[in-house]
Amino acid sequence: TRSIKLAVIPGDGIGIEVVEQGLRVLEAAVAGTDVRIDPTTFDLGAARWHRTGETLTDGDLEAIRGHDAILLGAIGDPSVPSGVLERGLLLKLRFSLDQYVNLRPAKLYQGVTSPLANPGNIDFVVVREGTEGPYVGNGGAIRVGTPHEVANEVSVNTAFGVERVVRDAFSRAAARERKHLTLVHKHNVLVNAGHLWRRTVERVNAEFPDVTTDYLHVDAATIFLTTNPSRFDVIVTDNLFGDILTDQAAAIVGGIGLAASANINADRTAPSMFEPVHGSAPDIAGTGKADPTATVASVKLLLDHLGLVDEAARVEAAIAADLAERGDRVRSTTEVGSDLVARLNG
Ligand code: IPM
Ligand code: MN
Repeated sequence: TRSIKLAVIPGDGIGIEVVEQGLRVLEAAVAGTDVRIDPTTFDLGAARWHRTGETLTDGDLEAIRGHDAILLGAIGDPSVPSGVLERGLLLKLRFSLDQYVNLRPAKLYQGVTSPLANPGNIDFVVVREGTEGPYVGNGGAIRVGTPHEVANEVSVNTAFGVERVVRDAFSRAAARERKHLTLVHKHNVLVNAGHLWRRTVERVNAEFPDVTTDYLHVDAATIFLTTNPSRFDVIVTDNLFGDILTDQAAAIVGGIGLAASANINADRTAPSMFEPVHGSAPDIAGTGKADPTATVASVKLLLDHLGLVDEAARVEAAIAADLAERGDRVRSTTEVGSDLVARLNG
């Protein structure tokens, strides 16, 4: 028997509801195999912060480190000042656990309506760098609140950090049918970082001669995501561009309710974390309206990461069938979960 130690962080708002369904589907996916899920729930998020003033303590982090993977719902609440939980909890997890590959697939499933008139066959993945860029918090402000205020957010790009994520993106591209990698940046303006990314892609390409590459400035990439998204196979980009592009990517394949993500430590020196791209949606929290599909699709990525590829494929098939047949039916969070579980049991 293989026991998977899973750290579960439901977090805030609808995170709690969707994670519950994600766990049900995960259990159903491994039922009848020799894999056992051993979950530990971590009380992290707005409620804990209000109660104790803590976001993520060293103790929490050490406990989480002892797990094989992390399933996270959503972090954030309007009652907490902006940035406190984002920086102190979510980004702290990604950075401390060195989750440098933020993987975000965008696939238009049958039965799902794209807002694009002619979406074509959309099936690409974005490899967003996860531990550098403007997200590192390297900056500061002086003369705050005066007309002479200066506010800096410095984007950090290291040769080490860029190379490891570019290599991961190449290996993902090499394993796909089209074997195409698009670097997205803005090297006509961000000349220092942009050229480091461009040189790195050129150099690492030598290790993956089957992979073709091209380059787009980020502004042009947003145009193609709207006018011709089927041109993309694998996109590699920095942390902030990737944040923005993956929301657009989610929108063109049916919205944020379906968008999965993985924060991967590809060297496996710490657990990777799987989370829906959407937030805590306080406006619909507790109403049972949240679609758990993004979380279930993140569970699929979790299974892949753990090498449980058959189980992952079955979850993927259940999601695809559910989407193909859902039509205009309105179901609660639990009902969608139950339908997916039934497909896995059936
Ligand atoms: C995401 C979110 C986060 C990010 C926020 C909540 C810090 O938007 O996961 O895309 O910017 O990475
Ligand atoms: Mn985002």
